[in-house]
Amino acid sequence: MNKYFLDLGKQPLANNYLKIYSNVQIKYHLKLFFNTKNKIVSISKRIPSEKMFNNTYPYRSSMSKTMKNSFFKLSLEIKKKFNPKKILEIGSNDGALIKNFDKKKVIGIEPCNNLAKITLKKGFITYNKYWNYKLAQKLKRKHGNIDLIYSANTLTHISNLNDVFRSISYLLSKKGILIIEDPSLLECMKKNSYDQFYNEHIYLFSAISVKNLLNKFNFEIFDIKNLSTHGGSIRYYIKKKSNKNLKINNNVKKQIQNEIKYGLHKFKTYKKFSNNVQRSRKNLLKILQKIKNNGKKIAGYGATAKAVTILNYCNINKDLIQNFIDITPEKINRYMPGKKIKILKYNRNILNNYDYIFLGAWNFKEEIFNKEKKFIKRGGKFITHIPQPKII
Ligand code: TYD
Repeated sequence: MNKYFLDLGKQPLANNYLKIYSNVQIKYHLKLFFNTKNKIVSISKRIPSEKMFNNTYPYRSSMSKTMKNSFFKLSLEIKKKFNPKKILEIGSNDGALIKNFDKKKVIGIEPCNNLAKITLKKGFITYNKYWNYKLAQKLKRKHGNIDLIYSANTLTHISNLNDVFRSISYLLSKKGILIIEDPSLLECMKKNSYDQFYNEHIYLFSAISVKNLLNKFNFEIFDIKNLSTHGGSIRYYIKKKSNKNLKINNNVKKQIQNEIKYGLHKFKTYKKFSNNVQRSRKNLLKILQKIKNNGKKIAGYGATAKAVTILNYCNINKDLIQNFIDITPEKINRYMPGKKIKILKYNRNILNNYDYIFLGAWNFKEEIFNKEKKFIKRGGKFITHIPQPKII
């Protein structure tokens, strides 16, 4: 049974950065639910994929050193540990992972045409398609079984998880490995990072819920890695149950125990989270209001989808945060979805115009602190809402 626990209000599509501001933007009610049976946390509204993932999708994996390094390291690990003959990435984005592999060995699946074009141009086999059973059948006919399937921050965007795993199971070789990587529900709860929820993120996985999901398809997790990317993610290493060659690492049990200890299997944990989120909104607004009253200026750093949830949930307007700053070409000179706050192109001097930075990309805090030593030196301060609203 799905039980409701948090209302994040009316939210626009998080990656719909408008060129021309309009008061009439379609908004969807963002409500969060916990499934008491399979322990999955999900949002209520399902928006057709075509509305979100099309030819203008602005998110680019290669826009931060942190993500590029993470993908590079993973590619080395995959080659060393599994040495797959054929690799498939579901949601290959702009190729941040696949570019580390031999072009003959790797296939990308990317529904957003503007992103698929990037890897196609570089000579990588890329299917500009949504992941589903029909595509898995086509791939099997053309390329045979796949030894390693990888997907980061993509499966949680697809409503029909049964079709997702059925298609993977069909295409993956008997001894094949599936690696999936997504934000960790445990980290989200601990950090109170409610901004992990937006219309694209239909699910937020825990090891408990992934285990339950996989069971139906005779898959099992054999290893788990906690990562710092996206504010705390989990990389799940998965195999077919029939493959007895790989041992199950103790990490899997440990992660599940930690999640149970925190109460991720219980509804009351989510009610508590809901109260914390409401408190976080009040406290963030207090901080921003005080800065405004002192006549100081704030820029949002990183025009993230996460920040869109915060702006719209807390009703933060231009009087509180004057602009956002970002390096992504697809976001520059556009407006933050749902709000008349313009995104400006990053340059080193632009921060001279502001006294405070609100960390929209709080998940890249270290990278940003390193980059902005000059701002810090001249007394510039940072505002974050993680884990509690505060000035750093
Ligand atoms: P991310 O946190 O990955 O995104 P989302 O919440 O949308 O999933 O996005 C980080 C954003 O921050 C991205 O638009 C690029 C931007 N960014 C900068 O502009 N400068 C930087 O130094 C870094 C690290 C990120």
